[in-house]
Amino acid sequence: NSRRIDVITVFPEMVEQVARFGVVGRAAERGLIELSAWNPRDYAEDRHATVDDRPYGGGPGMVMKVAPLHRAIQAARAADPRPARVIHLSPQGARLDQDRVARLAACERVIYLCGRYEGIDERLLEAEVDEELSIGDYVLSGGELAAMVAIDAATRLVPGALGHEDSAAEDSFATGLLDHPHYTRPEVYERRGVPEVLRSGDHGAVDTWRLKQALGRTWLRRPDLLAGRELDERQRRLLDE
Ligand code: ADE
Repeated sequence: NSRRIDVITVFPEMVEQVARFGVVGRAAERGLIELSAWNPRDYAEDRHATVDDRPYGGGPGMVMKVAPLHRAIQAARAADPRPARVIHLSPQGARLDQDRVARLAACERVIYLCGRYEGIDERLLEAEVDEELSIGDYVLSGGELAAMVAIDAATRLVPGALGHEDSAAEDSFATGLLDHPHYTRPEVYERRGVPEVLRSGDHGAVDTWRLKQALGRTWLRRPDLLAGRELDERQRRLLDE
């Protein structure tokens, strides 16, 4: 039950870095995810390995050609018998949020398609792409960083990827709230102390304090996250104490 992730990119070495470090690195080592990158240049039709061409209708920049991308996607599909969800990273896509990340994490096979230049020939997108995702309202020079963001955020939700299994459930956004503050030793640093309740050993009081901090920070910094939401049962119980 491992996840296979393929990335179509003219910069495979760039995308491969995401599986070398930290939580994603460990998930790859443990075989929870398998990441491969496919370069459309290897599937080009000419000896110059051309993957882009001038836009019909004129204008600046270049457009990625259909055939090399199509062949690279077919090669990636053929590398595993399971059906793949093909996701194009682009500013025209739906905004990636924690709910969409959770849906990606539940997917056993995803192929991320990364564009460079001005974009990809629309006919390739129509024929091959299931979903278009954006990581925010700004323009990157290619989809690679966006794919790496999606891979990182989704992999940490794969069961077994985080050492400590409820860490993902307690995350900011999993609860619908921003995170509470964290402290570790020393007890005093440059005259700043640690909130007394965290040293009290009273786990109920700690949970209540953390929830109040999370609610307060969300209210102050991201009131949009609170609009139309209600506390869950655990949260209501903590505030009643
Ligand atoms: N490619 C270029 N900009 C992007 C963005 N904001 N999100 C996803 N892919 C992109």
